[in-house]
Amino acid sequence: MHARLYRTLPYKMIAVASHAADPDVWPYYADRVGRRITGRKLRFFSREETDAVYGAHAHDLLTALRAIGVNSLIHDPRAVHPSLFERGRQRIDRLAIPFHQLGLAGSSDLRLAYSAAVGIGARDILETGVALGWSSLAFLKATERTQGRLVSVDLPYPFLIGRSWVGAAVPDEMRERWTLLRHSDRRGIPKALHLSDGYDLIHYDSDKTQEGRSWAYPRLWRALRPGGLLISDDVGDNEIWAEFCQSVGAPLIVVRRQRAYSGLLRKPETAAPVQLSA
Ligand SMILES: C[S@@+](CC[C@H](N)C(=O)[O-])C[C@H]1O[C@@H](n2cnc3c(N)ncnc32)[C@H](O)[C@@H]1O
Repeated sequence: MHARLYRTLPYKMIAVASHAADPDVWPYYADRVGRRITGRKLRFFSREETDAVYGAHAHDLLTALRAIGVNSLIHDPRAVHPSLFERGRQRIDRLAIPFHQLGLAGSSDLRLAYSAAVGIGARDILETGVALGWSSLAFLKATERTQGRLVSVDLPYPFLIGRSWVGAAVPDEMRERWTLLRHSDRRGIPKALHLSDGYDLIHYDSDKTQEGRSWAYPRLWRALRPGGLLISDDVGDNEIWAEFCQSVGAPLIVVRRQRAYSGLLRKPETAAPVQLSA
């Protein structure tokens, strides 16, 4: 189907109807309607604001990992496992949904995600934001040698019919070690926190708003084991990541990938044990 059809009102209405029974999407639709009525816009940084807050703290990936004590080489999972990623792409192509044109095909910094997970020998990983599942695939592959587990939280895009496409990059045979919670962060993160006694690596790539980040970061931080790693995608959207690093007394370390910044934060080995309160 052509991308233009996905943007028509009838298509969107059918998509909304396909998700209507799911209470997780109600706040999303309410927010969209509220913003339409009031004209309130989500606040995101301009490029100048992003560079002013994060530019001076940006490193290349190797330097950033070293700065947080991860002495790993850089691995690009697409280069290490080319056929796995190619088969993922073919599965997604077969869905015949124009993800690229709809702006839904993007992935986070997979070199960062994979190298960090391999570098710290992560066993339990939590990620928010799955979409097509590229980061999920990278994490599942990275945890093969530790026999680790991945828990993912994702609210499927509410203007696309159905949800079976979420995580399509991940083949069936790799799903045994994967728990996919199809929820919003607000419902999914508390559930994820009950599934483990703590996480070695947490990757945040879902709700990019100020409110979403302010709600999630402290909860995710508390669920991180001492020595664990919190990574957040697109921190340059607003000031919340910089403020959070300051609040936990950690240096601001970000990796620049083209125009996007990812933040990295390591919990000290001497930190208090995990608190799983949501
Ligand atoms: C950028 S994509 C994730 C990409 C993925 N991490 C990767 O690297 O392949 C963001 C995903 O987060 C989901 N999302 C957005 N807001 C969310 C929320 N409040 N709760 C849960 N998921 C959300 C979107 O529907 C989308 O599937």
